[in-house]
Amino acid sequence: MAFVNTSVAGDVAIVTGAASGIGQAIAVALAEAGARVGCADLAASSMDETLARVAEVGGEGVAIAWDVTDPADATRAVAEVEARFGPLALAVNAAGIANAAPATELGLEQWQRMYDVDATGVFLACQAEGRAMLGHGRGSIVNIASMSGSIANRGLTQVHYNSAKAAVIHLTRSLAVEWIRDGVRVNSLSPGYTWTPMNKRPEVADQVVEFAASTPIGRLAEPVEIAGPALFLLSPAASFVTGVDLLVDGGFCCW
Ligand SMILES: NC(=O)c1ccc[n+]([C@@H]2O[C@H](COP(=O)([O-])OP(=O)(O)OC[C@H]3O[C@@H](n4cnc5c(N)ncnc54)[C@H](O)[C@@H]3O)[C@@H](O)[C@H]2O)c1
Repeated sequence: MAFVNTSVAGDVAIVTGAASGIGQAIAVALAEAGARVGCADLAASSMDETLARVAEVGGEGVAIAWDVTDPADATRAVAEVEARFGPLALAVNAAGIANAAPATELGLEQWQRMYDVDATGVFLACQAEGRAMLGHGRGSIVNIASMSGSIANRGLTQVHYNSAKAAVIHLTRSLAVEWIRDGVRVNSLSPGYTWTPMNKRPEVADQVVEFAASTPIGRLAEPVEIAGPALFLLSPAASFVTGVDLLVDGGFCCW
């Protein structure tokens, strides 16, 4: 047995938003590390690329259809993964949307949709995952928040996104203290600007150069650079870490 145990080998995991970007990178990293991974996104048919990458690293994955805004989907998705692979031990909630609008023009529908996916969606996922894990007496959940949950990004009008991400950080702390005595850790991970389809949106095209310049490291993160810290939080190496928000931002919040 290693002095510091960083292994997730043999564990059963679920990742939401696994068809793209950060969720995909984390699903592949988990599979490479020997976890069996339920790869969840809006449509199971969107998972071909992720499953191909999982197979490339010699891992095992299954595509799961899961709209995170639907509580019934959450329960079914967790049950599907457990039926296929066994008791759920690890979960990463990465599904999310982003868009921008000046606060004075932001419609209630746009505000509500952001909260449904980025805040309520994370809570519903934690609830279904937590129910399973608490029953098994062990588990580790990582919620993908954002540095926008702690800072207001210069030049981006996204009060709905920023505040929904702040909710993710604080719901994480609340669940962490509620569940830790029953063996379940809950942490959030807040990426800085990361090179994913989310940052290829037309409304941020002109800003990506500025994003890189305003990050001390001088560039955006590659999705794999978010996966490493996520694996740390999931693994037994982080056994005393719960309720934390781990900033992975190339130094952005230092400036
Ligand atoms: N890219 C960045 O710079 C950045 C920075 C900070 C935080 N984040 C966060 O990281 C997470 C992943 O973002 P990304 O950049 O990989 O984006 P992405 O758009 O590449 O991937 C997001 C995935 O979530 C899925 N999704 C959207 N709505 C869903 C729903 N209702 N149910 C299930 N799946 C749904 C999409 O289909 C997509 O596959 C998000 O929560 C995002 O807010 C991203």
